[in-house]
Parts: sequence; C-alpha cells; structure tokens
Amino acid sequence: MPEEHEILETLLHVKQVYPPPPQLVEQAYIKNYEEAYRESIADPERFWDGIARELEWFSPWTKVLEWNYPWAKWFVGATCNIVHNCLDRHLNSWRKNKVAVIWVGEDGQERILTYGELARQVNKCANALKTLGLQQGDRVTIYLPKIPEQIVAMLACARLGIVHSVVYSGFSAPALEARIRDAEARVIITADVGYDRGKTIALKPVVDEAIAKCPTIERVVVVRREASATPLKTPREIDWNEWLHDQSTKCDLVPLDAETPLYILYTSGTTGKPKGVVHVHGGYMVGTYITTKYVFDLKDEDVYFCVADPGWVTGHSYIVYGPLLNGATILTAEGKPDYPNPGRWWSLIERYGVSIFYTTPTAIRLLMKYGEEWPARYDLSSLKILGSVGEPINPEAWQWFYRVTGSSKPIMDTWWQTETGMILVTPLPCTPLKPGSAGRPFLGIEADVMDRDGHIVEHGGGFAVIKTPWPAMMRTIYKDPDRYLQYWNTIPGVYTTGDVCHKDEDGYLWFMGRADDVVKVAGNRIGTAEVESALVEHEAVVEAAVIGKPHKTAGEMIKAFVVLKQGVAESPDLIQSLKDHVLNTLGKIAVPQEIEIVSSLPKTRSGKIMRRLLKARELGQDPGDISTLEE
Ligand code: PRX
Repeated sequence: MPEEHEILETLLHVKQVYPPPPQLVEQAYIKNYEEAYRESIADPERFWDGIARELEWFSPWTKVLEWNYPWAKWFVGATCNIVHNCLDRHLNSWRKNKVAVIWVGEDGQERILTYGELARQVNKCANALKTLGLQQGDRVTIYLPKIPEQIVAMLACARLGIVHSVVYSGFSAPALEARIRDAEARVIITADVGYDRGKTIALKPVVDEAIAKCPTIERVVVVRREASATPLKTPREIDWNEWLHDQSTKCDLVPLDAETPLYILYTSGTTGKPKGVVHVHGGYMVGTYITTKYVFDLKDEDVYFCVADPGWVTGHSYIVYGPLLNGATILTAEGKPDYPNPGRWWSLIERYGVSIFYTTPTAIRLLMKYGEEWPARYDLSSLKILGSVGEPINPEAWQWFYRVTGSSKPIMDTWWQTETGMILVTPLPCTPLKPGSAGRPFLGIEADVMDRDGHIVEHGGGFAVIKTPWPAMMRTIYKDPDRYLQYWNTIPGVYTTGDVCHKDEDGYLWFMGRADDVVKVAGNRIGTAEVESALVEHEAVVEAAVIGKPHKTAGEMIKAFVVLKQGVAESPDLIQSLKDHVLNTLGKIAVPQEIEIVSSLPKTRSGKIMRRLLKARELGQDPGDISTLEE
C-alpha cells in the first residue's frame, strides 16, 4: 500500500470536479443520484425486490432477505437459474440473433457469437458435461486462456447447477493444484496453449503436473488450439471439439434455489492459503445485473469492452454475467494492451465502435508511457463511458485517460472485491467526478468509513466498511466458514473490507489500498504470506518477509527480504533461482521484483514478523510504535 499521507496529499491536491455531461444525464437510467440513493436506502429490501423483478424467476421469493448476522439469504425460497436470464430470456426476444460476444485473438483472429449461437454452444457443452456423469453441486475447474470456450464452459456448468472454479491461466502447477484440491473438482477443462505477446505458453503440461496429485479429477477436457501439436495421452483426456460434436444444441435448464452456489473463485488473503469465495445464483444475478446497467448506463446499442480476464472476478461479473444478463454486445480481446503495439486497444475501440470501455489503472499507466500519439491515431468518438477497477487510480492517470478519449467521457472508478461480487462504491453517469475517488455508494449499499473501534468517521481516514448486507455478497469461504466470519467480526456488526479509505466533506470515498498483508500488483491481489511460503520452500532459505512497495506502473511491486541458511552465499544466480522458484510455485504475477538478503528479520516478542517495520525502513519513513519489537 502506498503510504496514506503521501497519497492523500496528491489526491487532495486535485481540487477539480468534473460535472457529468448533460446529454448523458438526460438519457441515463439514474438522473439524480441523491434522490435515487435516499429512496433505495430508506427501504433496501423494497429496492432490491424491484430490481429482482426486472429478471425472470421460475417461482417467487417469500422474503427478499433473511439476515441471520452474518449469514445472508436473498430471495428466500425463489427458484431461478442465472443462465436463463443470461441466454434463454434473450432467445425469446428480438435479441436472439444479436451479437453477444465479439472475441479477438492475440493474432487478430475474430470470432463472433450471437445470443443464439452462444446458447447452442453452452447447451452442447452442458450436454457433454452430463455425459461425464456430472451433477448439480459437483465442481469443475476451468483453466483456460481468454478464449470464448471459457465463457461457454462457465455458463454450461451454471446451466446444470454445477459449480465452476475458474483458475487464471497464469497460475503455476502448485497454485492450480491447491485450488483443484480444495474444490475437489471432478473435471478440469483446459487448453493446449495460451498466447502471450506472440509467445506460445503451454498450459497442458501445467495441468498434467497439477493433477498428478489430485485424485478427484476424473477427466481432462482439452481445447486444442494447435491440435496437431498436442496429442491426447490417456483415455481420461478428451478433445473439446469431439466432446461437443454430437451433442444436441438443446439442453433443459435446471431450476435452482436462489441460494444454490454458482461458483467458487479463489483469492488471496493474509494467510498462505487462498480463499474460495462462494457466490450463488440468485443474489449475484440481481447485483451484477443492475450494477452493469446503471454504472455503465448500458443500452442495447452499446458495444461494451471490458479488458479483464474471466480468470478474475471482474471477468466473472463484468465480462460474463452482468453484461449477458443485460443482453449486451461484449467485446473481449486476448493479449496485452501494448502487443503487437500500444495502439492495440484503441484500434479495437475504433474497429468495433466501442461505447463503454472498462479497464484498469495499471493498463492506463502503461499506455501513458507510450504517449498520447497512440490514442490520437484512432477515432475514439464512439466512446460514451469509461471505467476503471482493481486499484486506486492516481489523478494523473485519470486525467490522461479522460483527455486522450476526448475530455467528455466520464470515468466510473468502480470499487469492489472478489468477495463483494458486484460494484459497491462508484460514480454514476449522473454524478460529478473527482479524479482518484471512487465516489459514493451504489444504490442500496451502505458503505462508510470507521475507526478501529467501530465509530463512524465523518470526514477523514479509517477503514472502509459495509454496514448492511447486499445481494451479491459472498455467502461463505468454501469449507472455511470461520474465515468468512472474520470479515464480519473484525469490527463487530459490519463487513470489513480490508481497505484504508478517506471520506471527504461531500461523502466521496478515496480508497487508498489494503490495510492488511495483501499487495496489489497490477491490480492482482497477492497475499504476502503466499509469496513468503513459496520462498521458504527453497532449499537455501530460512525465513522470508514480503512487502508491497509503490511502483510507477503496476501501483505496487513485491519486495522480499530473505534470510539464507548458514553457509549459503548470496549470488545473482541464487537470487534468480529464488525468483524462478516463486514463478514455478505461484506464477509470474507473484514473482518479487526485488529480493534483499538480510541476516535477520524484525520480530515481535511473540515471534511475528513486523512487515510494517521493514516497509517503513524501505520507504524511509518513521517506523511508528516499535515497543513490541524484540531486537
Ligand atoms: O484494495 C481494493 C482494490 O482491490 C481490492 C479487491 O481486489 P480483488 O478481490 O482482486 O478484486 C479486484 C476487482 C474488483 C480491494 O479491496 N480495489 C478494487 N477496486 C478499486 C480498488 N482500490 C481502489 N479503487 C478501486 N476502484
């Protein structure tokens, strides 16, 4: 986390407030935030009831919310299936041949799926899942690069009430193995390769290594992008195309209780073990549907481009579920923003006439480095609304993004988490913007800032909390309810987000980073404990401590302090071998950029590593209270 006072100084320097463009407000779903918010909060259950009625259910709820603190059930007793609202609902309307997904591969290859075609693929895949004997409640791990099959597989699972666990394809074998084992998945769907900046990345060997120690895996389905290069080895391996080939394009959808688990998505916390965040069909459907609609003012004629990977929660909520629930046309592109050149995303915006562009601060800062001439080469006039997510956006990057896209397209700086499922704090197209602030709570959401003792901070810094339940909230941490309880017990009575936040005199929230041992590298959440445990597995290492350090492009970078075993000498080769070890254990995103060999680590008398002290020293700051330091 960048130091609080440092960020605040920069943020509060930017006094400029950007009013919403009047013509946008005129046609927006929500034209007056204050009024709409007040009304939603006066009776949140009534508000959510009204939203839920915009979607189709097989049978109604008897109660909107059953709140047995901190356990929530939404739309109690109702039956639904999120896929019915993502696909079937549109097939019964003029949208049946509307484009659902435009996919562009790293090499420029294009695939277009209408709602009808996407539904046919999903049905074939669902029927194929049935041939493997999979049933409601079973878990399937999806370890795919960003290709349409990823979306198809997710929806096919959901159609049958099978719980999907998507694992980002950049994770290494041990990280994948840990997630498969925890979920006890019966099937894994993968691909032979992914592509990254022109390089071919073999995925199948990673899966082979990961499942060698996963006895629950019965079948491995492989999407073969380079068919000839990857022969299938054993009878348990199935080719995706063959698997789907003879399947019917019709598949009855399974009506589910609203609280039926939809997916598990693993995310990092403060221990070495990733947490399996569980989301359910009903409430998640309502939350992602309405936030996509209101935050981006999504209309049928829009072309919606979200740069996330479905391997992360943004991809789940705002590439797949939220936009499909709204019947949107979604553009999704494989690859990096600067490959084959820094005009990549701008050219796609021009080519497809993108009107909504949802990206990340790290990507914006990366594109900034290449200069304004890149966006200037393209016609970006189709853009209407912009979005940012995953980490605080510094005002400089905000203003650059605003300027190069035409100085009239509002930026929705959306704050949320894997656990929250949906956007909770955000501007709306009708609200004035302050660069660097995520604005105020979404309708029906009571977000606030509290001190450690649970007192509300009127203006100033503290911990970001959510005071009341919301429909898309996680229901539990898979097989670890105690970890779920911690979110609601840290400050009793409220959900503690783990973020430090400043509230200004207008009630705008300025999220400043994590209060815990979680680092955000390029918006990716990495637990320092996970990196530390990977490092201490290395034969040369006795102890390790990991901190986040400000980084110009990625927001934060990982720095590791390592104590070596006696007799082991420091050398560039050793440092490289430590980095390689983290790469092979966790994946590229978790590799420390800096490793410093030290003779000991600062610890409390009870033996806990004081990362705070290491960080203060690293950043040349006052270490604060060191009375618990042992030596
Ligand atoms: O620290 C906050 C930061 O990302 C965390 C959640 O990470 P994850 O579960 O990976 O989800 C990322 C995508 C929703 C939060 O605790 N974060 C997310 N959005 C913002 C943000 N920080 C500041 N501003 C944001 N808009």
